[in-house]
Amino acid sequence: MDDARLISTLANSVEASPTMAMATLAKEMKASGKDVLSFAVGEPDFPTPANICEAAKKAIDDGQTKYTPASGTPELKQAIVDAAKRDLGLEYEASQVAVSNGGKHALMNTWRTLLDPGDEAIIFAPYWVSYPAQVELAGAEPVIIKTFGDNGFQPDLDEVKAAVTAKTKAILVNSPSNPSGGVFTRETIEGIARIAQESDLTIVSDEIYKHILFDGRSHVSPAQIDDDLKARTIIVDGVAKTYAMTGWRIGWMIAPPSFAKKAGSIQSQETSNPCAISQAASIEALTGPQDAVGEMRAAFERRRDYIVPALNAIPGINCPDPGGAFYVFPDISDYMGKTVQGVTIKNSQEFCLYLIEHAHVSTVHGSASGSEGCFRISFACSMEQIEEGVRRIAKALQ
Ligand SMILES: Cc1ncc(COP(=O)(O)O)c(C=O)c1O
Repeated sequence: MDDARLISTLANSVEASPTMAMATLAKEMKASGKDVLSFAVGEPDFPTPANICEAAKKAIDDGQTKYTPASGTPELKQAIVDAAKRDLGLEYEASQVAVSNGGKHALMNTWRTLLDPGDEAIIFAPYWVSYPAQVELAGAEPVIIKTFGDNGFQPDLDEVKAAVTAKTKAILVNSPSNPSGGVFTRETIEGIARIAQESDLTIVSDEIYKHILFDGRSHVSPAQIDDDLKARTIIVDGVAKTYAMTGWRIGWMIAPPSFAKKAGSIQSQETSNPCAISQAASIEALTGPQDAVGEMRAAFERRRDYIVPALNAIPGINCPDPGGAFYVFPDISDYMGKTVQGVTIKNSQEFCLYLIEHAHVSTVHGSASGSEGCFRISFACSMEQIEEGVRRIAKALQ
């Protein structure tokens, strides 16, 4: 059968995640015997803390191996509500939570529940690669506003205001950000909040990196501003980054009760509940000892303290200091159009391909995040790997 008939127009409009594509290329090169260092995937290198793994084993032994309610167990929802109180100082009801198969799925459910065809959602670039694709999958239009490293990736609020149209339904906030590591200041969050109030918009706040903040910063959620903002903010979060639980696939939204219920209905038709054992493990993650969270955060900060000056020492690389998460997003526009060791580099994708071929280092091109002239390095890997990776990059760019 011919592909044009086999594959829908919607499916045809979707590209595979570029981060995954880069990671796959690195794996293929590794399989062929090449010593490739991967800096492409946003995944903590730490093992999941032992108490969480024990809770999962216990859940299996206790027979928690059956279906649960589609949008999560009451116990996990309560643990999420309690964690929101502890971490954000906010009171929610368990009925406001819908648990999904990872933060990515919680976000997709958010867009599906929120957006109608033709609606617009404002997204800041550089953005996490899945945001625009997910908004499009929900039939709506992403509207991109660029931000830059020289002011810590804060958006120009006048530009945000000007981008709001009658079709705008939501503004997406992701602080700390993947891929930039940028952290919105309180003024930025308050400015976005005011625009949302003036135009009656929803804020979707992806807070998956909120526990990974540097230099003593504290997390600011738009939902903390006042009751009106709390009511118009949908928080998306998960266990993946905070507890080194990427493979367990648990994420959630906290939203108005009717919204969370609808999202649960969508999920009940699509996937049913997220893994029962992972849900039990996530209760332990959220309610058990939190020491590992602080230890991992401190390790990321030490790596950040090494990698930023080391990259800035390479001519032509301008690496802003990330305030959180575990990414740097250096500007490499100096290299565009230049010839390095006989290879002419036209754009960030060619730059990253050059690095993987000549330095055996995999990274992600900034154009995948709507920011040409930059690239992303994930420093969620050992200090030894970071040192060796930077050494290789410096050598390949000589
Ligand atoms: C900004 C951001 N949001 C959400 C997610 C989703 O995480 P997960 O689906 O693994 O919970 C990620 C993962 O890379 C992310 O970087």
